[in-house]
Amino acid sequence: MTLPDISELTLEEKASLTSGASFWYTKPIERVGIPALMVTDGPHGLRKQREGGDHLGLGDSVPATCFPPAVGLGSSWDVELVRRVGEALGAETSIENVAVLLGPGINIKRSPLCGRNFEYLSEDPIVSGVLGAAIVQGVQSNGVGTSLKHFAANNQEEDRMRSSSDIDPRPLREIYLRGFQRVVEDAQPWTVMCSYNRINGVYASEDPWLLTRVLRDEWGFEGLVVSDWGAVNERVPALAAGMDLEMPSSGGVTDAQIVAAVEDGSLDEAVVDVAAGRVLDLVRKATEGAGAVPGPLDVDAHHALAREAAGRSIVLLRNDAVDGAPLLPLAKDAALAVIGEFAASPRYQGAGSSLINPTRLDSALEGIRELATGEVVYAQGFRTARDVAEAETAALRDEAVAAASAAAVAVVFLGLPARLESEGYDRSDIDLPAAQLALLDAVLAANPRTVVVLSNGGVVALPFADRVPAIVEGWLLGQAGGSATADVLFGDVNPSGKLTETIPVRLEDSPAHLDFPGEFSHVRYGEGLFVGYRWYDARRLDVAFPFGHGLSYTTFAYGEATASVTGEGDIAVTVLVTNTGERAGREVVQVYASLPGGRVQRPVRELKAFASVALEAGEAREVVLTVRRADLAYWDIRLDGWVVEGGEYVVDVAASSRDIRSSTSVAVEGDAVSLPLTRNSSLGETLQHPVVGPVVQAALTRMMGEVEGAAITPEGVDMSVMMASFPIGRLGMMAALGGADDGEGRVDAAMIDDLIAMANAEATPQP
Ligand code: BGC
Repeated sequence: MTLPDISELTLEEKASLTSGASFWYTKPIERVGIPALMVTDGPHGLRKQREGGDHLGLGDSVPATCFPPAVGLGSSWDVELVRRVGEALGAETSIENVAVLLGPGINIKRSPLCGRNFEYLSEDPIVSGVLGAAIVQGVQSNGVGTSLKHFAANNQEEDRMRSSSDIDPRPLREIYLRGFQRVVEDAQPWTVMCSYNRINGVYASEDPWLLTRVLRDEWGFEGLVVSDWGAVNERVPALAAGMDLEMPSSGGVTDAQIVAAVEDGSLDEAVVDVAAGRVLDLVRKATEGAGAVPGPLDVDAHHALAREAAGRSIVLLRNDAVDGAPLLPLAKDAALAVIGEFAASPRYQGAGSSLINPTRLDSALEGIRELATGEVVYAQGFRTARDVAEAETAALRDEAVAAASAAAVAVVFLGLPARLESEGYDRSDIDLPAAQLALLDAVLAANPRTVVVLSNGGVVALPFADRVPAIVEGWLLGQAGGSATADVLFGDVNPSGKLTETIPVRLEDSPAHLDFPGEFSHVRYGEGLFVGYRWYDARRLDVAFPFGHGLSYTTFAYGEATASVTGEGDIAVTVLVTNTGERAGREVVQVYASLPGGRVQRPVRELKAFASVALEAGEAREVVLTVRRADLAYWDIRLDGWVVEGGEYVVDVAASSRDIRSSTSVAVEGDAVSLPLTRNSSLGETLQHPVVGPVVQAALTRMMGEVEGAAITPEGVDMSVMMASFPIGRLGMMAALGGADDGEGRVDAAMIDDLIAMANAEATPQP
């Protein structure tokens, strides 16, 4: 299809392209043959509404495969699997003639309370960025687009449409933007969705720094920026900032504002051309890609993939020996008591705009019954409804205890009721409902051979973690989560998921606790860089289960790791990993780096690379992981740029952030940093300057004499240390340096200016 050139459109037509026609459609221009495009949520399935539109998942939508939400899928840490799920999502999008799937969401899980954590991948930007890029590549391989969201620093639901995320430059760059940068640079999503919130006081939707300077000029984004639904505050400044497409429809009101602004000279028409041109580009890509996957949807194949992905999303938190052997996997012929409402009525996705109408739904109870050969008794145990009478709760508990007493093993499904976590609001605590905890205590007393299976989108406190021999974190696993849970419980699938977020002991320990959710529409990110494990490690806090943790039914041994700098300046890390157990399994190998004694504040260690490695029983494999040089960089606030500091980096190869298996180190050459010398540079900095440093040192020696200790006062104070912090522009005032009040040998302004000119004559690298 040939689309018109932008020059063929009238101003009104161009303006009209920059906002939606309805809830899910862009505007067509029939006169010149521009079709409308449909976009839909996202992220873990296709929510194509049959009629009308709403952004909270209220209206009915066509059935689609509900894959595990990000909280689950991310726990696989498996780029290849995540890409395959992306491809399947792209196929369903294509089959339904939708141009753009509104996802993935890769915001950092700053607080466990965020109501939307189930839709996000991790507390770590490398996990979020690497897996986010895999989703985008997978989806877009099928001729449809993605919308990387929510850009940026949208880390809570409370007051989300106004709240300002007040963040210092380093955490903003190193934690909150790093993942977005990775996805944009590696995968070029067709669109990026700007978030509702403000960042340091400026609405994301009208922030030229965010949408143009960072996103396009620095990262090279080539696609279109779309607003989150209703995120536009003032349309004209938003357009000028780089916010191309407003969604949903404004009923033409904002199009008219744009036309008026051009006509009164306050907006350059070229700005409208750029935005409309990007909409045209999107239409071009979508029409070229249309029909890439003919359909019909292979419901069975996608359900099978959803089951595989769910099995890989499950994290085995604990599996202690009871009577001499680990409690899991269960023997298929064991008499089981399956307890808990979630076993029969699964919680498999979160509420809000991502709500999928699944093609099927497997419950764990059915899955267990399918695989078991022994007796399976079900007891509901509790009800998740709001007001349950005490007598009913007690009766359900008694029934569950009786079932547990009679069984070889009790499998108790606990979790968060759907109403507790949703888009649009946050949780106020991380506790499981009291009735569930009481039930678990009663079951444990009746039968210590108890397994807990959890269903939750955000982390929950696990006060029973030391008392229950086996704990399975089932997150929200999508439509096939029930059967996948059975696969893992019986060992048909060997668990291999690992935590992409820390499970704290108490909410009070969590990094953002004192700064969440802020007040009067401002939330200060007071923990700075120390998000997630970076915080717990720096504070040496105990955690319930650390970032990166997850067990298997087999065991893995790590050899001695080696690290070397490659020709591209990256670090290649090599380690031999051996499956030392008796069944095939997968290990998620993690690489953390740190620079002890570095010049800027740094976390104890930070994840830099990972790989999911499949190993047969007894198999050994040399795994090579690449730490990108760019990922070693910190954001230098003096330069407003990335800097790789030179030095000896410690490289930890680990099975979790707190299970380091092998450490090595590697020398990395730093970036040349060139800062001009100014009157505000300190004497200490000046002395380190490669050109003028020796000159100043010689002058000082002349003045103070060669005598050792000349700068030490009778009280033992070393004046040279004190002097080191003096700005050189103010040295003239210091008689002590001149040595005399008569002006003899005094440092004057002209000397300082000469020195500065000499230093800045050519840009010289500094340490
Ligand atoms: C959500 C987005 C979603 C959009 C459209 C918004 O409320 O924040 O994630 O894509 O609605 O439903």
